[in-house]
Amino acid sequence: MSQSTFAPVEIKYSKELLEVGSKYEGPIYVYVADRIRERCKNLISSFSTFDSSIHYAIKANANREVLAIIRESGLGAETVSLGEVERSLECGFKPEQIIFTQAALSKKELQQVIDKNIIINLDSLNQLKWFGEFKPGASCRIRVNLDVGDGHHAHVVTGGALSKFGIHKDELKEALEIASTFNLTIEGIHQHIGSFILDEHMFVGAMNALLEVAEEITTVKHVDFGGGFGVPYEPHQRELDVERLGVIIKERMDSFKEKTGRSLHALFEPGRYPVADAGVLLARVTDIKHHSHTMWVGINTGFNHLVRPMMYGAYHPIVNVTNENGKAIPSTIYGNICESGDVFARDRMMAESTIGDIVAITHAGAYGYMMASEYNLREKPSEIVI
Ligand code: LLP
Repeated sequence: MSQSTFAPVEIKYSKELLEVGSKYEGPIYVYVADRIRERCKNLISSFSTFDSSIHYAIKANANREVLAIIRESGLGAETVSLGEVERSLECGFKPEQIIFTQAALSKKELQQVIDKNIIINLDSLNQLKWFGEFKPGASCRIRVNLDVGDGHHAHVVTGGALSKFGIHKDELKEALEIASTFNLTIEGIHQHIGSFILDEHMFVGAMNALLEVAEEITTVKHVDFGGGFGVPYEPHQRELDVERLGVIIKERMDSFKEKTGRSLHALFEPGRYPVADAGVLLARVTDIKHHSHTMWVGINTGFNHLVRPMMYGAYHPIVNVTNENGKAIPSTIYGNICESGDVFARDRMMAESTIGDIVAITHAGAYGYMMASEYNLREKPSEIVI
C-alpha cells in the first residue's frame, strides 16, 4: 500500500528549511522537488493498469520549476483560464496534453482557446452551441453536473444543485439536441465533484454516475473523473489510498467493457495531491505577546500569503523549525495583516517561540502562493524549489 508518513516535508527536510529560512528574511514558499516526483510516481503507478492519463490541475501551483518537475514526471496539464493555458505551453506541455474547462467563458474566449488546439470540456449549453458554430461536424467533450458533490468546504463542492459548474443532468437531453444540430460527436464527458476527498468510496459513487452517462451516450470514448484527491493535513486524517482506488477503477472499467463492448480512456485532474505536502511557507517570528492563556506568536506573513485558514477554516500544521524540539506550549500564531481573522492557528501546541525564530506552515504547496495577494500593499512572498 502506498501510505506515506504524515507531514513528510518538515520531518525529512527541516535542516534544509532552516538553511533556506536563515538566508531569506522575508516569507518564502519552499517546494521539495523529490516529494513532488514521489507523488506523481505514486499516481502514475496506481493508474497504469488501465488506459488513463493524468493532467495536473495547475491552479494548485503553477510555479515554473514545479511545472517542469510535473511534466518530466509524465503528467499533462489541466487549465481553467487562458493564462493557465499560456503558462502550460510556455513550460513545455504539448497542446494535446492540455485540458481546459472554464465556467462563465465568453464566446470570444472560447474562440481563443479553440485556436490553441487543446482539449476543451464545454461547461454549458451555450459553450456547446458556440463550439458547434465554430466547428460544425467536430468531436467535442462536455463537463456534466450529475448532482454528485463533495469537498472540505462548501466553497469547493462542485457538483449538485447549488453548483455553478457543468451541464446539469436535467440539461443533458438538450445538450444532445444541440450536438445533433451542429453534427457534433460527444466523444468525452467530464465531471469534477469537488476538492479534498479522502474517501475512495466517494470517488467510486461519482464514477459510477459518470459511467452511466457514458453508457447512454454511445459515442463517448473519454471519461474524465476530475481531481479532488485529498491529502491528510491533520494528524488524525488518513492518506487516500490511490493504489486501492486504481484497482477499483480498473475493475469498473473492465466491467464497463464487458457490458458494452466499449473500451474507455480515463482521465484524472489532481491539483492538490502532487504538491500539497511538498510545500511549506517559511516565516519569521516578529513579535510575542502573552495574554488570555496563550502565547501570541506574530509572524511576518499573513492571509495575503496563505488564505486557506482564513477562507476555509483550513488546518495547516505549523512547526517552529529553529526550536523544533523545544517544550510545546499553547500558541496562537497570527499574521501581520490588519484584520482580526488573520490567525493561522489558535492555541496550537507548538515549541516555544522567540523573536527571530523560523516557523514553517506546512502543507502549503497547493493553493498557497497561487491564492496570494498584495492586500495591505505587501508584496507576494518569494518561492524556491529545493
Ligand atoms: N479539475 C477541476 C475542473 C477543478 O475545478 C479542480 C479544482 C481540480 C481539477 C483540482 O482539484 P484538486 O485535485 O486540487 O482537489 N482553493 C481550494 C481548492 C479549490 C479547487 C478548485 N478546483 C483550497 O485551497 O482548498
